[in-house]
Amino acid sequence: MPHLRSRISGLGMCVPPWVVSNDELTQWMDTSDEWITQRTGIRQRHWAAQDTSTSTSGLAVDACRDALAQSGIAATDVGMIIFATLSPDAVFPGSACFLQGKLGVPGIPALDIRQQCTGFVYGLSIADLYVRAGLHEHVLLVGSEIQSKALDKSTRGRDMTVLFGDGAGAVVVSATQVEDVSARSKESFLLSHHLHADGSFAEDLLFRSPGTSNRIWNPPELVPEREAYPQMNGRLVFQHAVKRMPEVALEALEANGLAVDDVDLFVNHQANKRINDKFAESLGVSPEKVFDTIDLYGNTTAATIPIGLAEAVKAGKLKPGMLVACAAFGSGFTWGASLLRW
Ligand code: COA
Repeated sequence: MPHLRSRISGLGMCVPPWVVSNDELTQWMDTSDEWITQRTGIRQRHWAAQDTSTSTSGLAVDACRDALAQSGIAATDVGMIIFATLSPDAVFPGSACFLQGKLGVPGIPALDIRQQCTGFVYGLSIADLYVRAGLHEHVLLVGSEIQSKALDKSTRGRDMTVLFGDGAGAVVVSATQVEDVSARSKESFLLSHHLHADGSFAEDLLFRSPGTSNRIWNPPELVPEREAYPQMNGRLVFQHAVKRMPEVALEALEANGLAVDDVDLFVNHQANKRINDKFAESLGVSPEKVFDTIDLYGNTTAATIPIGLAEAVKAGKLKPGMLVACAAFGSGFTWGASLLRW
């Protein structure tokens, strides 16, 4: 008897056209292509025009249209929108509402989630559960970020600014009937999700203002002080990322009775090439099995995994029937992994 499961039926991505090379950053801050390449593996990132022409939901809508087209459904067939971002169009309402307006599908639920670099994995788990519960046939999930407008582009902010890029990646999560729901099944479906957080590290990667932990929501005297920009304890974040990402990937495999060798491709969150390499080293897999997009896009936060999936398909590295693991780590701290049969 077939079982109701969900699968990714469509995939899309969008990055703004402005490519910012490492050399270009040196006009604003004291840094170098050599430092950035050696410490992070990033060669370039895409940034949105620094004006009002592009918003986070504006990038998202292009990625979503591609995903809908690939899925072969119309926007009106979508039952729910989930929008993962740390760089919303506005403090409120949520970016999912802006996106819903742009897609022209009023009435359906529109949910924003705030799990930063782990946002896509959290979002995938929610989409999967709604579909598996029979509540929606199709859920549209997008991770979209315009980080560039929030970053401190002076030397003071160089530790963070060189890392981040803008972009969007979207998936349509659709109902599917699966005959063999075992972990070794070759049918395409989402196997499981494993989510974590540890709020005791909330201050180690944060963007405080605007927020109610300030005296007032958005104190004018903070601008242009440090708290008006994202801040990061980079070394601590690195140490936790290289521990948590392999750990949660193994948790996902163990929960399904699978081994590292069963995974055909890891499409993880992209923060730093050294994190990708350490991940491969910890699990004892060849670096070719850990798909990289960091050199081209930098860290696009909630968008890195769907962009990675889209790029992996384009590169011919992700094919039907493959077992894919997606691990992520980010601000919160939050971390998680999804396992899926493509
Ligand atoms: N260009 C040039 N020099 C820079 C620089 C930049 N962009 N950023 C920092 N530096 C300097 C520092 O000021 C420091 O100088 P000092 O020794 O004179 O004090 C020196 O480089 C070394 O800094 P350090 O922070 O020790 O470097 P690192 O090897 O830890 O690399 C990160 C820094 C940020 C690349 C690294 O810690 C990292 O990737 N952390 C994880 C970040 C992350 O993944 N964030 C998102 C999570 S989802």
